[in-house]
Amino acid sequence: MRRGRHLDCRSRLRSRSAVTASSGRDESAGRVGEGAAGQTDSLRDFLAAVDLFLATAPEAVAGVTDLAGLEQARIEFLGARSGQLKSIQKLLSGLVAADRAAAGRQFNEAKTEVTSLFAAAQERLAGGNDAISRPAADAIDVTVPGDPVLLGHIHPITQTIRQVQEIMARLGFESVDGPEVEDQWHNFEALAIPTAHPARDPLDNFYLAVARGADPLLLRSQTSTVQIRVMENRRPPLRIVSLGRVYRPDTADATHYPMFHQVEGLLIEHGTTMAHLKSVLRQLASSFLGGDVRVRFRPSFFPFTEPSVEFDMEWGGRWIEMGGAGMVDPAVLAAVGYDPDEVSGFAFGLGVERIAARRYGVADIRDFYRNDVRFLRQF
Ligand code: PHE
Repeated sequence: MRRGRHLDCRSRLRSRSAVTASSGRDESAGRVGEGAAGQTDSLRDFLAAVDLFLATAPEAVAGVTDLAGLEQARIEFLGARSGQLKSIQKLLSGLVAADRAAAGRQFNEAKTEVTSLFAAAQERLAGGNDAISRPAADAIDVTVPGDPVLLGHIHPITQTIRQVQEIMARLGFESVDGPEVEDQWHNFEALAIPTAHPARDPLDNFYLAVARGADPLLLRSQTSTVQIRVMENRRPPLRIVSLGRVYRPDTADATHYPMFHQVEGLLIEHGTTMAHLKSVLRQLASSFLGGDVRVRFRPSFFPFTEPSVEFDMEWGGRWIEMGGAGMVDPAVLAAVGYDPDEVSGFAFGLGVERIAARRYGVADIRDFYRNDVRFLRQF
């Protein structure tokens, strides 16, 4: 780099010097040596000295390797007492009056040129001294990257939960929680899942060893339990959303995990229809995934909704299965003491991992739980 800069400098000066020396001389006849039949000897000497000065200074400056050497060269070229510039100044004062103004300009230009050459070299050598030749013992290398402070952040699943809560809050749904250890009533019975129902099979649930006699406890298999807990304690109208962990003894693979999270939505109001359900789901999907996301219903069955649907969302040109939903079954409303002739409502449930994986393009939901910071750092 230094070499490049040096060469630039030289070629610029050289061409300039060439102009002065040849064709420039004719042109500049109007300035220097004006009116004279030929140049006087003293003018010739002056011009030659300027040329030499400009030609040799860059080389001298380039040749120095430290500040002391530079100072020596500076004295030789620009020194106030006996430097080359001083000699040229003497030649200048020996010129005839007619030449002096133009020659003076040339003198000043040469002086500026060479002075800035020395200034640049001074800067370069002073900087270079710091970084290169100062002993390393006491030096702090400020260019070495520091140790980064690792800041933790919210897990992508928790981020998703909070986003869904916020979106649902804008639609008037209050966030509520329920216990993860449940009894038969809240996980099954009140949801119209009778004793003989296959969903209660011990192979499909995590029953706890501390079972209370005929009413064994279990890790909840769905968040629909929270519908019951809220309805038991409140009167309609209701708009609630509950997000939390559920447990099923599935073998872990790219789309299953024995513990995952669900979003449960419940709205109980007078005159609720499936159209309300669909627009709430569409709002949720559009706000969460971005853009205008279409929602479609497919007929299905859940014991606690009638009619029941599975709902898909169209995203990226494909229909993606998102969860289950339906109008709350009158038997469920009756089980919590509501009058099915007075109020109706809808409920829906969907997997948090599933929507998070969709949104972030995660192919394997197990990645959410491996606690590999290289993965988690991306969210
Ligand atoms: N609880 C159901 C499930 O886990 C989903 C669902 C919720 C269906 C609410 C209908 C209404 O699959």
